[in-house]
Amino acid sequence: MIPESFIHEVLARVDIVDLIDRHVRLKKAGANYMACCPFHSEKTPSFTVSPAKQFYHCFGCGAHGTAIGFLMEYQGLGFVDAIKELASAAGLPVPDTREGIEGKKPGNDWRTLHSIMAIAWNFYKESLKKSEKAKKYLKARGLSGEVAARFGLGYAPDGWQNLKAIFPDYERAELVQAGLALESENGRRYDRFRDRVMFPIIGAKGEVIGFGGRVIGEGTPKYLNSPETPLFEKGRELFGLPQARQALRDENLAIVVEGYMDVVALAQHGISNALATLGTATTPQHAQKLLRQVDSVVFCFDGDAAGRKAAWRALENTLDFLPDNKSVAFAFLPESEDPDSFVRQEGKEAFLRFIRKATPLSDYLIFEIKKHCDLASAEGRARLITEAKPLLARLAAPSLRLQMVKRLANESGLTQAEVERLCGIRGYTPPQPKKPKRVPPSLSRRLLRLALCQPERVKRIPLEKMPPGAERDALTVLAEILPGLPPDSNLAQIMERLRGHPLEMFFVEAQSDELMRGPAEQEILDEQEKEFEDVLIRFAEEARGAGFSDLQEKARLFGVSGLSAEEKAQYLTLLTRQEN
Ligand code: UTP
Ligand code: MN
Repeated sequence: MIPESFIHEVLARVDIVDLIDRHVRLKKAGANYMACCPFHSEKTPSFTVSPAKQFYHCFGCGAHGTAIGFLMEYQGLGFVDAIKELASAAGLPVPDTREGIEGKKPGNDWRTLHSIMAIAWNFYKESLKKSEKAKKYLKARGLSGEVAARFGLGYAPDGWQNLKAIFPDYERAELVQAGLALESENGRRYDRFRDRVMFPIIGAKGEVIGFGGRVIGEGTPKYLNSPETPLFEKGRELFGLPQARQALRDENLAIVVEGYMDVVALAQHGISNALATLGTATTPQHAQKLLRQVDSVVFCFDGDAAGRKAAWRALENTLDFLPDNKSVAFAFLPESEDPDSFVRQEGKEAFLRFIRKATPLSDYLIFEIKKHCDLASAEGRARLITEAKPLLARLAAPSLRLQMVKRLANESGLTQAEVERLCGIRGYTPPQPKKPKRVPPSLSRRLLRLALCQPERVKRIPLEKMPPGAERDALTVLAEILPGLPPDSNLAQIMERLRGHPLEMFFVEAQSDELMRGPAEQEILDEQEKEFEDVLIRFAEEARGAGFSDLQEKARLFGVSGLSAEEKAQYLTLLTRQEN
């Protein structure tokens, strides 16, 4: 693990404006810098880089992050490699990163879950080395020890409480929270994964966040997966991403498959740019993540009904993020084949040929909707347009959309203008990214924003008096991490400390307006401080008001004599204040 303090140091030394400007020409715009977003296609710049906060944010597509995050997204680097690159550019020697997480004392935050998962992963890997049965199974599926190690495969031995040996405090709540243990109806703990080959799912920081466990041989369920936990949200993660990063950069192509075994078998045959969704449909987040890193994505799903359905879902969820300079295609395997069986029978070259022949998204889209339209009848042609309409509306790439319109015109015998009118498309101006609705922020939200500008402020906020909600949770987290932050941390330093936190996205959202504000000039800082004091006062007034109405209600129900002596005194004070 890279020490937290080193990450802070790197972030303090790099300038995000310099870094990004090397890849994307930035223009000064007031306090910030702007450019057309490198992560989606746009004509007017909404990609903003703040030198004061050392953070970027695209108000069009939502891409955001620190210098580290930029390198990860833009160059497809892993977390550790991104830090190493920044460090070497800044002339900082990189500390030893081998020291395992095992030695770390679990602290009292979400990172406890991270270390628990790491300890379990280690145990599964060690158990694989010791299990002839599991090794034999993997060998029979054509895997070498080298590839098994590259993916960190493991084995959960048979038995109900194997994890007890490595977690002496087996009853601790976090084991259930991490999805590693379950509780029976009579309250007995037992391991979730038993007698299964374990596939670790690696998160953004290179830490294990979930597992998929396959039965050895026959049995149901074939795969057992980690539940959704604070660390693990299936719809965002892709299996095999860290192992694929280098190949994604080299090939500029991602091959998306359905199964864990498909990814691993392809890697075994020298195809390392494959990734899998985790037994879920391809989500918009998946599509976005992939299209930021490579120019071409090929979905290669199983040759069964489920695979074809998965392909269509992938198409729908890709439309919104597909810029003109990127391509998405679909490769349909023959019935009852999957990439694993295909590559094993036909070999690498045949598989790659098959991927190169993939059907482009536009062909696939038209082919699918044409299937249920009888183009010989006027009704059928009308239906073609009706079915195309919602899909075209979502297609973000303007020239691809134009081509589609032309083809639909061809197929339906209508003119291009008619198709455009029927589909509600005027010419081919790309849809502008939706501007978020402006609602005045609540007092809690303002407190959070101001605390993110200057984390020390959190000490002055009476957290216990805040109404429950995400803002209070976020401020509590901020208070927890404060001791580990350098004084005067910028937003980048705070956000890196929160990487992988369940509330990460909430923090990003909370500060996005703040990003548009000016630099950290004294005048503005003073103004901010005044605002903070003002919000605190209003907040106290509101809290008092709420306290007052509680007491008032109690007094109404039980009479003033129903109040305790302390409450009575408070009620009277508030009453007089209320009347003034
Ligand atoms: P497949 O049934 O295609 O499995 O499911 P596979 O990857 O080809 O596995 P092998 O070759 O039989 O070992 C595809 C994916 O769907 C999820 C898993 O993520 C799996 O890799 N899945 C499948 C489950 O989560 N649970 C299941 O019971 C089955
Ligand atoms: Mn398979």
